[in-house]
Amino acid sequence: MKRFEGRRVLITGAGSGIGQATVHRILAEGGIVVAVDVSEAGLAATHQRAEADGTADQLSTVVVDISDEASVRAGVGGAITGLGGLDVLVNAAGILRSAHTEQTTLEFWNRMLAVNLTGTFLVTREALPALLATGRGVVVNFSSTSASFAHPYMAAYAATKGGIQSFTHAIAAEYAKQGLRAVSVAPGSIASGMTADPGLPADADMSWFVKLQPALGQGFAGPETVAGVIAMLASDDGAFVTGTEIRIDGGTHA
Ligand SMILES: NC(=O)c1ccc[n+]([C@@H]2O[C@H](COP(=O)([O-])OP(=O)(O)OC[C@H]3O[C@@H](n4cnc5c(N)ncnc54)[C@H](O)[C@@H]3O)[C@@H](O)[C@H]2O)c1
Repeated sequence: MKRFEGRRVLITGAGSGIGQATVHRILAEGGIVVAVDVSEAGLAATHQRAEADGTADQLSTVVVDISDEASVRAGVGGAITGLGGLDVLVNAAGILRSAHTEQTTLEFWNRMLAVNLTGTFLVTREALPALLATGRGVVVNFSSTSASFAHPYMAAYAATKGGIQSFTHAIAAEYAKQGLRAVSVAPGSIASGMTADPGLPADADMSWFVKLQPALGQGFAGPETVAGVIAMLASDDGAFVTGTEIRIDGGTHA
Protein backbone atom coordinates (compact mmCIF):
# COMPACT_ATOMS: atom_id res chain seq x y z
CA MET A 1 0.00 0.00 0.00
CA LYS A 2 1.45 3.39 -1.00
CA ARG A 3 -1.20 5.76 0.35
CA PHE A 4 1.32 8.56 1.03
CA GLU A 5 3.14 8.63 -2.31
CA GLY A 6 4.08 12.28 -2.92
CA ARG A 7 2.58 13.44 0.41
CA ARG A 8 4.61 15.62 2.76
CA VAL A 9 4.20 14.63 6.39
CA LEU A 10 5.62 16.26 9.54
CA ILE A 11 5.63 14.13 12.69
CA THR A 12 6.60 15.35 16.18
CA GLY A 13 7.71 13.01 18.95
CA ALA A 14 9.41 11.13 16.13
CA GLY A 15 12.41 9.97 18.17
CA SER A 16 10.56 7.34 20.22
CA GLY A 17 7.47 5.23 20.65
CA ILE A 18 4.34 6.01 18.66
CA GLY A 19 5.75 8.99 16.75
CA GLN A 20 8.75 6.93 15.62
CA ALA A 21 6.56 3.99 14.59
CA THR A 22 4.38 6.41 12.61
CA VAL A 23 7.43 7.76 10.77
CA HIS A 24 8.35 4.26 9.60
CA ARG A 25 4.79 3.34 8.68
CA ILE A 26 4.37 6.45 6.52
CA LEU A 27 7.81 6.08 4.94
CA ALA A 28 6.90 2.49 4.03
CA GLU A 29 3.76 3.83 2.37
CA GLY A 30 5.75 6.24 0.21
CA GLY A 31 5.51 9.49 2.22
CA ILE A 32 8.13 12.25 2.42
CA VAL A 33 8.61 12.67 6.16
CA VAL A 34 10.12 15.33 8.42
CA ALA A 35 10.77 13.77 11.84
CA VAL A 36 10.78 16.31 14.69
CA ASP A 37 11.88 15.70 18.26
CA VAL A 38 13.72 17.42 21.10
CA SER A 39 15.97 14.35 21.39
CA GLU A 40 18.84 14.26 18.91
CA ALA A 41 19.64 10.68 19.94
CA GLY A 42 16.04 9.64 19.34
CA LEU A 43 16.08 11.15 15.86
CA ALA A 44 19.39 9.44 15.10
CA ALA A 45 17.78 6.09 15.98
CA THR A 46 14.81 6.91 13.74
CA HIS A 47 17.17 7.72 10.88
CA GLN A 48 19.20 4.56 11.43
CA ARG A 49 16.07 2.40 11.16
CA ALA A 50 15.08 4.20 7.92
CA GLU A 51 18.54 3.46 6.52
CA ALA A 52 18.06 -0.21 7.34
CA ASP A 53 14.61 -0.13 5.68
CA GLY A 54 15.92 1.66 2.57
CA THR A 55 13.64 4.67 3.14
CA ALA A 56 16.21 7.20 4.43
CA ASP A 57 16.11 9.22 1.18
CA GLN A 58 12.46 10.13 2.02
CA LEU A 59 13.34 11.25 5.57
CA SER A 60 14.77 14.38 7.14
CA THR A 61 15.10 15.11 10.85
CA VAL A 62 14.93 18.37 12.81
CA VAL A 63 15.62 18.96 16.49
CA VAL A 64 12.84 21.17 17.89
CA ASP A 65 11.55 21.85 21.39
CA ILE A 66 7.83 22.16 20.69
CA SER A 67 7.29 24.16 23.89
CA ASP A 68 9.56 26.93 22.58
CA GLU A 69 7.96 29.33 20.10
CA ALA A 70 11.25 30.37 18.50
CA SER A 71 12.36 26.75 18.11
CA VAL A 72 9.05 25.85 16.44
CA ARG A 73 9.19 28.87 14.12
CA ALA A 74 12.74 28.05 13.03
CA GLY A 75 12.59 24.24 12.98
CA VAL A 76 9.02 23.48 11.90
CA GLY A 77 8.65 26.61 9.75
CA GLY A 78 12.02 25.95 8.08
CA ALA A 79 11.17 22.30 7.43
CA ILE A 80 7.85 23.18 5.78
CA THR A 81 9.56 25.75 3.58
CA GLY A 82 12.13 23.11 2.65
CA LEU A 83 9.39 20.63 1.71
CA GLY A 84 7.58 23.28 -0.33
CA GLY A 85 4.35 22.68 1.61
CA LEU A 86 2.71 20.20 3.94
CA ASP A 87 -0.09 17.65 3.56
CA VAL A 88 -0.19 15.97 6.97
CA LEU A 89 0.78 16.99 10.52
CA VAL A 90 1.00 14.39 13.30
CA ASN A 91 1.52 15.96 16.75
CA ALA A 92 2.74 12.96 18.76
CA ALA A 93 5.31 14.68 21.02
CA GLY A 94 4.35 14.69 24.66
CA ILE A 95 5.49 14.07 28.21
CA LEU A 96 3.89 12.14 31.05
CA ARG A 97 4.64 12.96 34.64
CA SER A 98 2.62 11.88 37.64
CA ALA A 99 2.17 13.34 41.12
CA HIS A 100 -0.28 13.65 43.95
CA THR A 101 -2.32 16.68 42.97
CA GLU A 102 -1.91 18.40 46.35
CA GLN A 103 1.88 18.12 45.89
CA THR A 104 1.91 19.31 42.27
CA THR A 105 4.03 22.44 41.96
CA LEU A 106 3.14 25.27 39.61
CA GLU A 107 6.39 24.59 37.74
CA PHE A 108 5.37 20.95 37.16
CA TRP A 109 1.86 22.01 36.05
CA ASN A 110 3.20 24.69 33.70
CA ARG A 111 5.73 22.30 32.12
CA MET A 112 3.00 19.74 31.37
CA LEU A 113 0.89 22.43 29.73
CA ALA A 114 3.86 23.94 27.88
CA VAL A 115 4.90 20.71 26.16
CA ASN A 116 1.63 18.86 25.64
CA LEU A 117 -0.96 21.58 25.06
CA THR A 118 0.98 24.70 24.10
CA GLY A 119 3.43 22.62 22.03
CA THR A 120 0.56 21.08 20.06
CA PHE A 121 -0.85 24.58 19.50
CA LEU A 122 2.48 26.10 18.43
CA VAL A 123 3.29 23.38 15.89
CA THR A 124 -0.28 23.37 14.54
CA ARG A 125 -0.31 27.17 14.17
CA GLU A 126 2.99 27.04 12.32
CA ALA A 127 1.74 24.33 9.96
CA LEU A 128 -1.80 25.59 9.30
CA PRO A 129 -1.10 27.97 6.40
CA ALA A 130 0.68 25.22 4.44
CA LEU A 131 -1.94 22.59 5.32
CA LEU A 132 -4.78 24.91 4.25
CA ALA A 133 -3.01 25.72 0.99
CA THR A 134 -3.36 22.07 -0.12
CA GLY A 135 -7.16 22.14 0.30
CA ARG A 136 -7.05 18.70 1.93
CA GLY A 137 -4.66 19.06 4.89
CA VAL A 138 -4.84 16.67 7.84
CA VAL A 139 -3.93 17.17 11.51
CA VAL A 140 -3.74 14.19 13.87
CA ASN A 141 -3.34 15.20 17.52
CA PHE A 142 -2.64 13.07 20.58
CA SER A 143 -5.15 13.08 23.37
CA SER A 144 -5.22 10.08 25.75
CA THR A 145 -7.65 7.81 27.48
CA SER A 146 -6.66 9.89 30.53
CA ALA A 147 -8.71 12.77 29.08
CA SER A 148 -12.00 10.89 29.39
CA PHE A 149 -11.39 8.23 32.06
CA ALA A 150 -10.16 8.54 35.65
CA HIS A 151 -6.42 7.93 36.04
CA PRO A 152 -5.14 8.89 39.52
CA TYR A 153 -1.95 10.96 39.96
CA MET A 154 -2.26 12.18 36.37
CA ALA A 155 -4.50 15.23 36.81
CA ALA A 156 -2.07 17.62 35.10
CA TYR A 157 -1.43 15.22 32.22
CA ALA A 158 -5.16 14.49 31.86
CA ALA A 159 -5.95 18.22 31.77
CA THR A 160 -3.47 18.76 28.91
CA LYS A 161 -4.94 15.85 26.98
CA GLY A 162 -8.51 17.07 27.49
CA GLY A 163 -7.32 20.44 26.19
CA ILE A 164 -5.81 18.81 23.10
CA GLN A 165 -9.08 16.98 22.42
CA SER A 166 -11.05 20.25 22.59
CA PHE A 167 -8.47 22.17 20.56
CA THR A 168 -8.57 19.53 17.82
CA HIS A 169 -12.34 19.51 17.55
CA ALA A 170 -12.45 23.31 17.46
CA ILE A 171 -10.02 23.55 14.54
CA ALA A 172 -11.90 20.78 12.73
CA ALA A 173 -14.99 23.00 12.76
CA GLU A 174 -13.08 26.19 12.01
CA TYR A 175 -11.30 24.93 8.89
CA ALA A 176 -13.60 22.21 7.51
CA LYS A 177 -14.79 24.46 4.66
CA GLN A 178 -11.14 24.78 3.59
CA GLY A 179 -10.86 21.00 3.37
CA LEU A 180 -8.83 20.52 6.55
CA ARG A 181 -9.51 17.44 8.65
CA ALA A 182 -8.50 17.34 12.32
CA VAL A 183 -8.77 14.20 14.42
CA SER A 184 -7.55 13.34 17.90
CA VAL A 185 -6.46 9.87 18.86
CA ALA A 186 -6.65 8.57 22.41
CA PRO A 187 -4.19 5.74 22.90
CA GLY A 188 -3.98 3.72 26.09
CA SER A 189 -1.94 0.72 27.23
CA ILE A 190 0.70 1.14 24.50
CA ALA A 191 4.28 0.07 25.29
CA SER A 192 6.57 3.09 24.78
CA GLY A 193 9.21 5.21 26.50
CA MET A 194 6.40 6.98 28.34
CA THR A 195 4.59 3.96 29.74
CA ALA A 196 7.87 2.20 30.63
CA ASP A 197 8.27 4.85 33.33
CA PRO A 198 5.15 6.89 34.12
CA GLY A 199 6.96 8.29 37.18
CA LEU A 200 4.24 7.33 39.65
CA PRO A 201 4.59 8.57 43.23
CA ALA A 202 6.47 6.09 45.44
CA ASP A 203 3.36 5.52 47.56
CA ALA A 204 0.94 5.20 44.60
CA ASP A 205 -1.95 2.78 45.06
CA MET A 206 -0.88 0.22 42.45
CA SER A 207 -4.04 -1.85 42.90
CA TRP A 208 -5.71 0.78 40.77
CA PHE A 209 -3.27 0.37 37.86
CA VAL A 210 -3.39 -3.43 37.67
CA LYS A 211 -7.00 -2.98 36.53
CA LEU A 212 -5.74 -1.09 33.46
CA GLN A 213 -5.43 -4.08 31.15
CA PRO A 214 -6.67 -4.29 27.55
CA ALA A 215 -9.88 -6.33 27.32
CA LEU A 216 -8.34 -8.02 24.27
CA GLY A 217 -6.16 -9.88 26.76
CA GLN A 218 -2.85 -9.64 24.92
CA GLY A 219 -1.21 -7.13 27.28
CA PHE A 220 0.09 -3.74 26.14
CA ALA A 221 0.26 -3.31 22.35
CA GLY A 222 3.26 -2.01 20.42
CA PRO A 223 3.43 1.56 19.05
CA GLU A 224 2.96 0.27 15.50
CA THR A 225 -0.64 -0.60 16.43
CA VAL A 226 -1.34 3.11 16.84
CA ALA A 227 0.76 4.01 13.78
CA GLY A 228 -1.54 1.88 11.61
CA VAL A 229 -4.60 3.78 12.79
CA ILE A 230 -2.88 7.13 12.23
CA ALA A 231 -1.91 6.09 8.70
CA MET A 232 -5.55 5.25 8.00
CA LEU A 233 -6.81 8.55 9.45
CA ALA A 234 -4.17 10.67 7.67
CA SER A 235 -4.64 8.95 4.30
CA ASP A 236 -7.58 9.24 1.93
CA ASP A 237 -9.06 6.20 3.69
CA GLY A 238 -9.94 8.63 6.48
CA ALA A 239 -11.38 11.22 4.09
CA PHE A 240 -14.75 11.46 5.90
CA VAL A 241 -13.34 11.46 9.44
CA THR A 242 -12.92 14.80 11.21
CA GLY A 243 -13.79 16.54 14.46
CA THR A 244 -13.83 13.33 16.43
CA GLU A 245 -11.66 11.17 18.64
CA ILE A 246 -10.56 7.58 18.01
CA ARG A 247 -9.72 5.50 21.09
CA ILE A 248 -6.96 2.90 20.64
CA ASP A 249 -6.67 0.99 23.92
CA GLY A 250 -7.56 -2.63 23.20
CA GLY A 251 -10.78 -2.12 25.14
CA THR A 252 -9.05 -1.17 28.41
CA HIS A 253 -11.94 1.19 29.04
CA ALA A 254 -14.63 -0.85 27.25
N1 LIG B 1 1.91 5.10 25.28
C1 LIG B 1 0.64 5.25 25.66
O1 LIG B 1 0.00 4.32 26.18
C2 LIG B 1 -0.04 6.57 25.44
C3 LIG B 1 -1.33 6.73 25.96
C4 LIG B 1 -2.01 7.92 25.75
C5 LIG B 1 -1.42 8.94 25.03
N2 LIG B 1 -0.16 8.79 24.55
C6 LIG B 1 0.41 9.92 23.81
O2 LIG B 1 1.06 9.44 22.65
C7 LIG B 1 2.08 10.39 22.29
C8 LIG B 1 3.38 9.62 22.01
O3 LIG B 1 3.84 9.08 23.25
P1 LIG B 1 4.68 7.73 23.38
O4 LIG B 1 3.87 6.80 24.19
O5 LIG B 1 5.18 7.32 22.05
O6 LIG B 1 5.86 8.28 24.34
P2 LIG B 1 7.44 8.40 24.13
O7 LIG B 1 7.93 8.95 25.42
O8 LIG B 1 7.99 7.10 23.67
O9 LIG B 1 7.58 9.49 22.95
C9 LIG B 1 7.38 10.86 23.16
C10 LIG B 1 8.39 11.64 22.33
O10 LIG B 1 8.12 13.06 22.49
C11 LIG B 1 9.36 13.74 22.55
N3 LIG B 1 9.24 15.02 23.23
C12 LIG B 1 9.03 15.24 24.56
N4 LIG B 1 9.06 16.55 24.82
C13 LIG B 1 9.29 17.19 23.64
C14 LIG B 1 9.45 18.56 23.28
N5 LIG B 1 9.39 19.53 24.20
N6 LIG B 1 9.67 18.86 21.98
C15 LIG B 1 9.77 17.87 21.04
N7 LIG B 1 9.64 16.55 21.34
C16 LIG B 1 9.41 16.22 22.62
C17 LIG B 1 10.26 12.78 23.32
O11 LIG B 1 11.65 13.09 23.16
C18 LIG B 1 9.85 11.44 22.75
O12 LIG B 1 10.65 11.08 21.64
C19 LIG B 1 2.18 11.38 23.46
O13 LIG B 1 1.51 12.56 23.13
C20 LIG B 1 1.48 10.66 24.59
O14 LIG B 1 0.94 11.55 25.54
C21 LIG B 1 0.55 7.63 24.74
